[in-house]
Amino acid sequence: MRATLIGQPLTRLDGRLKVTGRATYAAEFQRSKLAYGALIQSTIANGSVVSIDLSAAKSAPGVIGILTRENAPQFKPYPDELTKNGAPGESRVPLQDDNVYWVGQHLGVVVAETFEQATHAASLVRVQYESKPPLVSLTDANPVQPEKFIARERLQAKRGDVNGALASAAHKIDVVYSTPIENHNPIETTSTTAEWEAPDRLLIHESTRGIKQLQKVVASVFGLPRENVHIICKFIGGAFGAKGFQWSHTILATAAAQLVQRPVKITFTRPQMFDSAGQRAHTEQRFSLGTDNTGKLVALRHATTTHCSPVSEFTEPCGNMSRMLYSCPNVEVSHRLVRLNLTTPCPMRAPGEAPGIFALECALDELAHRADIDPVELRVRNYAEFNEYENKPWSSKKLRECYQRGAEKFGWSKRNRKPRATRAADGSQVGFGMATAIYPAGQQKAGATAILNKDGTVTVRSATHEIGTGTYTAMSQFAADTLGIPIEKVRFELGDSQFPDAPNNGGSWLTSSVAPAVMGACRELKKKIAQAGGNWPNDPAQLADLFVRSGQEQVQAEFNSEPNREEREKFSFFSYGALFVEVHVDLFGQVRVKRAVGVYDTGRMINPRLARSQILGGMLFGFSMALMEGTIPDQKTGRIVNPNLADYHVLVHADTPEFDIDFINEPDPHMPDLGARGIGEIGIVGAPAAVANAVFNATGKRVRDLPITPDKLI
Ligand code: MOS
Repeated sequence: MRATLIGQPLTRLDGRLKVTGRATYAAEFQRSKLAYGALIQSTIANGSVVSIDLSAAKSAPGVIGILTRENAPQFKPYPDELTKNGAPGESRVPLQDDNVYWVGQHLGVVVAETFEQATHAASLVRVQYESKPPLVSLTDANPVQPEKFIARERLQAKRGDVNGALASAAHKIDVVYSTPIENHNPIETTSTTAEWEAPDRLLIHESTRGIKQLQKVVASVFGLPRENVHIICKFIGGAFGAKGFQWSHTILATAAAQLVQRPVKITFTRPQMFDSAGQRAHTEQRFSLGTDNTGKLVALRHATTTHCSPVSEFTEPCGNMSRMLYSCPNVEVSHRLVRLNLTTPCPMRAPGEAPGIFALECALDELAHRADIDPVELRVRNYAEFNEYENKPWSSKKLRECYQRGAEKFGWSKRNRKPRATRAADGSQVGFGMATAIYPAGQQKAGATAILNKDGTVTVRSATHEIGTGTYTAMSQFAADTLGIPIEKVRFELGDSQFPDAPNNGGSWLTSSVAPAVMGACRELKKKIAQAGGNWPNDPAQLADLFVRSGQEQVQAEFNSEPNREEREKFSFFSYGALFVEVHVDLFGQVRVKRAVGVYDTGRMINPRLARSQILGGMLFGFSMALMEGTIPDQKTGRIVNPNLADYHVLVHADTPEFDIDFINEPDPHMPDLGARGIGEIGIVGAPAAVANAVFNATGKRVRDLPITPDKLI
C-alpha cells in the first residue's frame, strides 16, 4: 500500500456540500404526495388509557387519517436478539395495549396535509386516563440488580477484600457523586419518512446510525423479508446515541403510511428529543478509595444506582473503567437499577464512561488532596501495567506519555496545590484541574464492495454512516491508498441498507471496523483485475482503458472483515488520554473553562484534522456536562420541565476555551493493517472531572453533583 493519504489532514470531502446546504438530511428528501404525521403523546406518567376522543381532531383542516390502538395493525415483536440481551432502545412495540409508562409515550399519529395541520389536530385529541402516582426519583423505590448484560460488559465485579483494605488504609475517602438525566440534543432532530412502494415493499428515509439494525427491526415488526425494507440515510446532523436504536416513531410512521396509503413523515420537535429517543439516566455513585502512606491504591469500591424505564432494561455502566484504569488489588464494582416512569434510557456519548469517570477522576483528586500528593503523580504511582480485571496485557498504552506531554504543554508545574490561592486580573478565582481519559477500542465485523467503473473511477460502498465525523473522507483515504490512485478517482458511498453490512455506528468503532472492509474490497478488486489478465496500471489514467479492452461495464469485488479474534483474546484494547484545564470562577459563581490541553493515545492517526475535531467536540460535550446540562423531571408528575434549548443549556461557541490537542500517534501493533484505535467518544471522558477538579482548586469547593451551576458555588 502506497501510504500517501493516511495520516494527512485532509479537509472533509463533503464539507462543501454541507456548508452550501446541498447535503440532504433525512427530513429533506421530497416525496410525491407526502403527508405529515404528528405524534399523540401521553400526558400522564403511569396508568392506562381509558378512551381517546378523536372527534375534534378528525374534522380539523387537512387531516387525512389518525392511527391509534383502535385501528393499529398487530405488530410482531422486535427481534429477540435485540430485546433478550438488553440491547438499548425500546423493547416493546407501540399501540398493542393501553398501558402508559411515561409522559410523552406515543399513543398514536395524526396525519395531515401539512406539519402545522397535523400538529394542530393532534392538540385537539382528548385522552381519558386512569392515573397512578408515578415513580420518578431514585429514592422512591428499591433498586435491584440488572438482569441483562449489555453485550460488552458485565456489571458486577469483585476481587480481593475491599473492607479489609479500607480498614487499614492510610488515606481514604467515602463520598457520593451524582450526574443528572441528560438528553441528546443534536441540531438535526430525529426524522423518518416511510413510504410503501408496494404492498410488501418499504422505503424509509431516517436519521439513523443503525441502518442495518433498523432494516431488521422494521422487517421483523411488519413481517416482511429483510430485503423488502430499504433504509436510506446519507447524512446525520449529530446523533450522540439517540439515533442508534429502535424507537416507536419509525413503526408509527410506517403504519400511518399504510393507513393513509401515502408517504408519511414524522420529524421530532425539540421537546420530543427529550421523551421519544432515549436519554442518559440519572446516576448516583458511591466511591470508597483507600491508599497506603505512599499513595498506592489499596481499595476501590464504586457502587452505582441508576434507572431504566418500566419496559426496557438499559444500565448506564458507570463502573466499568473503575475495574482496571488503575492498579489496585481490592476492587468492588456494582450497579443497581430502579425502574422509573421516565422515558427509556440508552447510550449517550461514552455511556458509562462519561458519568463513571467523572466520579472516579474526582475521587482520585480528592484523595490526592487529602494525601497531599500531586494529582498527576498519584495517577502515575497507580499506573496499571496490564488490565488487572481481565488479567491481560494492553495492546498498546502510552498513557504515561500523555500525562507527561500534557502536563508540560499546560504548564502544570505552575499549579498551586493549595485551593483558593490564585486570582486573575479581573478578580476571578483561577484553578487548574486534570483527569485521565480512557475508552474501549472496539471493533466489529463489516463488509464493503469496490467497483471499478468504465470511466476509470472506483466506487466503494458500505452500509455505514456519516454522523458528522468524517466517514466519507476517512474511507476515501483508505480506498485511494489501497488502490494507489488519487482520492479524486474514488467515490465512497454509505447510508443505504442495500450496501454490504456495517455495524451500528457507536462505541467509537466505525473506522476500525469499516476501514478493514474497505481496504479488503480494494485489494480484492486489484486481484480480480490481475486474474482477468489485466495489470493494475501504474498510471491510474490507464484504468479506463482496461475496460475498453475488456468490453465490460464494471468490475466488482467484495470483502467482509472480522476483528482478529486471536489478538482480541490475547490483548486488552483501549484508547487513552490526559486532559488539563484552567477555569476561572467569577464573583457570581459562574465557571468558565479558559484553556484545555489534551494529549491522546489512539494509535496511528488516520486524519489529524478530523481527529482533532472529534476530540474538540467531545471535550466541549464534557464541559457542557460539567457546567450546564441536566434534564429535570417534575417529581410529582414525571413531566420534563425543561425540554427545550432555552431551559436545557448546552455549551455554545462563546463558551469555547483555547484548545491544545495533541496525539502520541504511534500505531497499535495489535490492530493489524490499521494501527488506529477508536477516537469518537474519548474526548468527553474525563472532561467533566477535569473541570470539577479545577473548580475545587480555584474555590476550595468540591461539587460532587453535576452540573456545577453558580448556586453550588456561592
Ligand atoms: Mo456511543 S453513545 O456508544 O456512540
